[in-house]
Amino acid sequence: MVTKKITTLSEFILDKQKDFPFATGDLSALLGDIALAAKLINRKVNKAGLVDILGDAGSNNIHGEEVKKLDVFAHEQMTNCLRVSGECAGIASEESDGYLVFDDDRSKKAKYVVCYDPLDGSSNIDVNISIGTIFAIYRKVNPEGVCDELDFLQAGNKLVAAGYVIYGSSTMLVYTTGNNNVNGFTLDPSIGEFCLSHPNIRIPEKGGIYSVNESYWNTFSIGVNNFIRYCKTPDKASNRPYNSRYIGTLVSDFHRNLIKGGIFMYPATTSHPDGKLRLLYECNPMAFLAENAGGMAMNGKKRILDIVPTELHQRVPLFTGSKDMVEKAMEFVLEDELILI
Ligand code: AHG
Repeated sequence: MVTKKITTLSEFILDKQKDFPFATGDLSALLGDIALAAKLINRKVNKAGLVDILGDAGSNNIHGEEVKKLDVFAHEQMTNCLRVSGECAGIASEESDGYLVFDDDRSKKAKYVVCYDPLDGSSNIDVNISIGTIFAIYRKVNPEGVCDELDFLQAGNKLVAAGYVIYGSSTMLVYTTGNNNVNGFTLDPSIGEFCLSHPNIRIPEKGGIYSVNESYWNTFSIGVNNFIRYCKTPDKASNRPYNSRYIGTLVSDFHRNLIKGGIFMYPATTSHPDGKLRLLYECNPMAFLAENAGGMAMNGKKRILDIVPTELHQRVPLFTGSKDMVEKAMEFVLEDELILI
């Protein structure tokens, strides 16, 4: 019997590090810390259905400890893993108002800061639908001293690495360090390792899926609605109508479209002219992944990665996925002036 060689995430990261002769290993270690946090979150996510049996969030468990909400737990695991690692100078999380500086001696000298959404799609937890963790890694603007807000307010085009973990029918970690290379690793629970399962992911240029919350139809711009109508209109030559698929967890919708080809949209609405999704924690990391997989990510007028953030929790409209579909959506969207940027 021939046994196929398994490549674990740690082996893969170390192997990639060899391509950079001056690499110190800090980024590799940082990615390893995030993978560890993901495994801890995954363990908890798998037990989420037992919360009603073992105790509701906010109540005490059998050890007398408070049962935490899963998104708070995920935030704490990410923060703790990065804090003790010494490779991270500070974090900004969707779950906290401001950024957090790690000011111990090692972290102060660290080169990187990390932004994350610890548990994306948290409203789907109660109904057993896939959720995720999204992360983005930047180099500190000023390598000396503790980090400050400017380190987090960098445009996405300055990203060093980004990725997500999807807690789905299996648990996967997908990440990129740029160079048009995106790789996916599936967690093998029997050995507790992420193993390379999706090398060099390329998003199909012509997708066949559109993902948008159509219940906001009345509040979208005319351009967005015209694009949605285009997606539904039969046309043999371009394989329309496209399939409509919307999970309501960005990570899951994005992941499906990344593998199968499609567009994900969270456009501006009349009541939310900047949409719902956060630039730092959701849109930038997904845009970096999309572009490095051969896709696109726009806010309706410009490249997501070129937006210079002005605040930590800034929201932006998002159109991302297969290149042909995003380009087509932009043609329709640009016809209309409702999108405010
Ligand atoms: P939350 O984590 O609060 O559940 O938000 C999830 C985000 C994102 O993952 C998803 O694409 C979007 O919100 C769904 O929002 P709508 O319910 O408005 O469609």
